[in-house]
Amino acid sequence: MSEPFQDKNILITGGLGFIGSNLAIRLVELGADVTLVDSLIPEYGGNLFNIEPVRTRVRVNIADVRDEYSMDYLVKGRDYLFNLAGQTSHLDSMQNPYKDLEINCRAQLSILEACRKHNPNVKIVYASTRQIYGKPDYLPVDEKHLLHPTDVNGVNKMAGEWYHILYNNVYGVRSVSLRLTNTYGPRMRVVDARQTFLGIWIRRVIEGEPIEIWGDGRQIRDFNYVDDVVDALLLVASRDEANGKIYNLGSTEIINLHDLAKKLIAHNGGGECALIPFPPNRQAIDIGDYYSDYSLIRSTLGWEPQIDLDEGLYRTLHYYRKHREQYW
Ligand SMILES: NC(=O)c1ccc[n+]([C@@H]2O[C@H](COP(=O)([O-])OP(=O)(O)OC[C@H]3O[C@@H](n4cnc5c(N)ncnc54)[C@H](O)[C@@H]3O)[C@@H](O)[C@H]2O)c1
Repeated sequence: MSEPFQDKNILITGGLGFIGSNLAIRLVELGADVTLVDSLIPEYGGNLFNIEPVRTRVRVNIADVRDEYSMDYLVKGRDYLFNLAGQTSHLDSMQNPYKDLEINCRAQLSILEACRKHNPNVKIVYASTRQIYGKPDYLPVDEKHLLHPTDVNGVNKMAGEWYHILYNNVYGVRSVSLRLTNTYGPRMRVVDARQTFLGIWIRRVIEGEPIEIWGDGRQIRDFNYVDDVVDALLLVASRDEANGKIYNLGSTEIINLHDLAKKLIAHNGGGECALIPFPPNRQAIDIGDYYSDYSLIRSTLGWEPQIDLDEGLYRTLHYYRKHREQYW
């Protein structure tokens, strides 16, 4: 996989965040010339320590993707744009819907306009989300499932995704969208549940605090370790047949939240979990059970997750035990 990215000029929006920083580290290893743009809004997952292993080998531009002039400048000359900047909290999107709209929808259009005007030959990979399906009508959820999001974040991410596909189809600005499921691993936000509940679970289990599971704990989910997601981002970037396409990511390892908590506790060598009633504002936007059918990307491009939950949780706990002062 090294060739497509060797000496390539790459921009990652949201590059100081969880997935963006893991991607940046991999791209540096592959010989790419990497620039990160991130606003470091404190409630989001950006953290300068995330790029510690490569901090002298990437350029960091602290800018906001909502700033059209910055984006006009920043997209110029890039071979690839990994578009990962986003507001990720579903609850925040309900409490501050306009901010979510500005970042996850309007800014996406400005980024695409910047590319159309200043760099129409760039290849863009957009990080979409399974949240846009809403409460599933059937399982596993494939890409043909109707889109009926349960929260403002889902609506805006859906629009963000379709702007990318539209710019591919109408203007030939090559774009592809990955609908990510729950992604976890080193460098995720663990101070609260804004990015993923698994973040705060990891923090609490390491601190010896009980893990709180909302509801009866029987909600089913699938999880991807971040390295597998990075593989998928690079794969769709490098393949022309992915242009204009939308792919689910997912896993064959389906697990309910109670069993996941028990697994995490076992890997931690101790801990406890408690079932607590769903906070009403969370219940109202909950999607129930979810897991993906990711056979499209598997059969057409050959992507398959490599890291199982046991290995992924082990690596994640190890990372946060070692670096907790950077993330707590
Ligand atoms: N982590 C997951 O489980 C998951 C699941 C589905 C989709 N996604 C998508 O993947 C992308 C990356 O998510 P992540 O998990 O790495 O979250 P993250 O919060 O760690 O990363 C997002 C980054 O974007 C930056 N950002 C936010 N608004 C910005 C703005 N206006 N200008 C510049 N930078 C801005 C943040 O500072 C942060 O560093 C997001 O678009 C998210 O919707 C993530």
